[in-house]
Amino acid sequence: MFKVNDLYFKYPKANENTIKGISFEIKEGEIFGLLGPSGVGKSTTQKILIRILKDFEGEVLYKGRNLKEYDKDFYEEIGVGFEVPVLFSKLTAQENIDFFKSLYNQNADTDELLKKVGLWEDKDKLVSEFSKGMKIRLNFLRAMLNNPKMLFLDEPTNGLDPKNARVVKDLIREFKKNGGTVLLTTHLMNDVDELCDRVAFMADGKIAEISTPKELKIKYGERTVEVEYDDEGLKKSEFNMDALKEDKNFLNILKNKKIVTIHSKETSLDEIFIQVTGVDTSE
Ligand SMILES: Nc1ncnc2c1ncn2[C@@H]1O[C@H](COP(=O)(O)OP(=O)(O)OP(=O)(O)O)[C@@H](O)[C@H]1O
Ligand SMILES: [Mg+2]
Repeated sequence: MFKVNDLYFKYPKANENTIKGISFEIKEGEIFGLLGPSGVGKSTTQKILIRILKDFEGEVLYKGRNLKEYDKDFYEEIGVGFEVPVLFSKLTAQENIDFFKSLYNQNADTDELLKKVGLWEDKDKLVSEFSKGMKIRLNFLRAMLNNPKMLFLDEPTNGLDPKNARVVKDLIREFKKNGGTVLLTTHLMNDVDELCDRVAFMADGKIAEISTPKELKIKYGERTVEVEYDDEGLKKSEFNMDALKEDKNFLNILKNKKIVTIHSKETSLDEIFIQVTGVDTSE
């Protein structure tokens, strides 16, 4: 869907490049996660791909054609959920929807979307009277209202309670199921685990790692097996997964003890984030 080759970008007043030569591809039908520490350039990259920032170096192809060659029809095909909700606060939710709908030739069934994001009852309220989570959900709906083929979502579940985060994640999955492609930015590694087919970790304006979450876990994982067993009380042991066949202690437990739990230990994406980018997400 997108092909980015050797992309560089510098904000006019900045001293150095924010994006320092990144290349990646977003395949049609996948959910691609763009991850990395705060200020690394994720939103900047998204803004380049949606043609808000046009003064970049390098090549960006959308469906095989140079992004710069597209006219405003490009916006018929994409939906954008901005990091900070962009809505008219003096209008109601429905008035916001009607306005943004009028900018497009094709429209989704927004009544249905309002119901799905749980705002049907609130559609005639002023957005200024919305809670943060309500604005975030309306912002998400805004991204969907032109029935896009590709969604750009900048931290779509940030600030939502678990139930509403689930609603949004389910809608993202449904969008993908119906053939949609997604570029997702998030700091929530659980969301990545649940949603992303592939991820790119950015560090210092470059891409430090690009792969599937599973492969990253294998690459950075410890590959150990943790066994809890009954041996006059509950005991716990860890074994190297690659040497299990010859591990006498492991085989002894397997043969002679009652196993209570046994599982391979995967590195979490949070740990991978820290290893790859050198930044602790909990800070
Ligand atoms: N309009 C702007 N003018 C100048 N510098 C900017 C502008 N917008 C962002 N920057 C700078 O560019 C860098 C990247 O910002 P960006 O918003 O892309 O980060 P991010 O990875 O999305 O971070 P976050 O996770 O906090 O959203 C930061 O150093 C930021 O200060
Ligand atoms: Mg950002």
